[in-house]
Amino acid sequence: MDSSTVRAKHKEFLFPCVANYYEEPIVLTQGLGCCVLDADGREYLDFFGGILTLGVGHCHPDVVSAIQDQAGRLEHTSTLYPTEEIVRVAERLARMTPGKLKKSFFTTSGTEADETAIILAKIFTGSQEIIALRHSYAGRSHMAISITGHAPWRPLPTQVAGIKHARSPYCYRCPFDLKYPDCGLRCATDIEELIRTETTGKPAAFIAEPIQGVGGFITPPKEYFEVAVGIVRKYGGVFICDEVQTGFGRTGDHWCGIQHWGVEPEIMTFAKSIANGFPVGATIATDEVANSFTGLSLSTFGGNPISMAATEATLDVMEREDVRVRSAERGRQLRGHLDAFKEKYPFIGDVRGKGLMQGIELVEDRATKEPAPKKTAKLLEAAKKHRLLIGKGGLYGNVIRIAPSMLVSRSEIEDGARRLDMALSEVN
Ligand SMILES: Cc1ncc(COP(=O)(O)O)c(C=O)c1O
Repeated sequence: MDSSTVRAKHKEFLFPCVANYYEEPIVLTQGLGCCVLDADGREYLDFFGGILTLGVGHCHPDVVSAIQDQAGRLEHTSTLYPTEEIVRVAERLARMTPGKLKKSFFTTSGTEADETAIILAKIFTGSQEIIALRHSYAGRSHMAISITGHAPWRPLPTQVAGIKHARSPYCYRCPFDLKYPDCGLRCATDIEELIRTETTGKPAAFIAEPIQGVGGFITPPKEYFEVAVGIVRKYGGVFICDEVQTGFGRTGDHWCGIQHWGVEPEIMTFAKSIANGFPVGATIATDEVANSFTGLSLSTFGGNPISMAATEATLDVMEREDVRVRSAERGRQLRGHLDAFKEKYPFIGDVRGKGLMQGIELVEDRATKEPAPKKTAKLLEAAKKHRLLIGKGGLYGNVIRIAPSMLVSRSEIEDGARRLDMALSEVN
């Protein structure tokens, strides 16, 4: 099938909500490391990695052979039978996650991982209300879209009840029009008033991403989580940390993004890079919290032996290559370029992120900070022309998201930065 046939059939046979990037979407056919090929034989440098999913790059040979090997041995059992594959991964997660997180429940997506976390928090606390954040993203189930703090991702007018949205720690566009650190962390302290005025005073949980991914890599100030989580715990709630984008070294120096903020969650969720593109979601909780979930619950495909083999192989590579260190080093290199671009291009309003999770927010005018979604779309097209794949995000569609494989080389970062510079100069 040629690429135009694929595009035409996509339009004809898929829901229109399955939106693609670019005026003429790219039909990918092959990938290796940071490189992908399209159906027209063009090669691209992939600096988005399937929405931060290809943590160790396309078709890593260890992951590929683990999947092939497992598929020939045992494909499926359901969770009615314990397998060596599932317990090995669960034990590994308990080791790699901070604090007392210990017991896991496996599913097949980030949506289900968050859904499981919310159900668990409600069971454990006996409370029902959830504090979420504006600009957050939690997935596509009815509950997840209700948690999500973006109108475009909330297609239904009615939401799951009992979810209250606190202000995002979005310093560049402070919801209180204050400046850090003089703001006194108002976005965090306001959660107390939210609980006292909009809930019964007994929230079940606060769910938040360490860095808001779909929101445009919004990176909270360093004291944020200690203050926000402290308030929620004071009122009896637990902290669900959504590490779907930030997990497994992505933010550099640590396995989990939240470790930069020094707070230990009671529940944590993973998906995306946990199995390098294989559909795996995981919810991990402390012994005490997990043990409260005694009713029955199963996921037919959750913890599938092939998924677990893919997870184990991915985590093996991540540990062997220590992607925490790589992400920090290559992230510093990338950030150096992005900060220099900010000096050069007046339409870059903000550069933010950690490790290999870096975003640039585009504005029409630095003084007014008017979002520049058209420029952002143009930049995406220009980068495509220079054979560089990058991502887009933010409530206003004006944030470029960059997150290559954590095995990206020094020279690939230089190459990507050079291509991005050319694309930026065309938008200027
Ligand atoms: C932070 C976060 N949580 C949850 C999800 C939902 O994950 P999935 O698309 O695997 O259901 C996403 C997806 O982008 C995400 O970014």
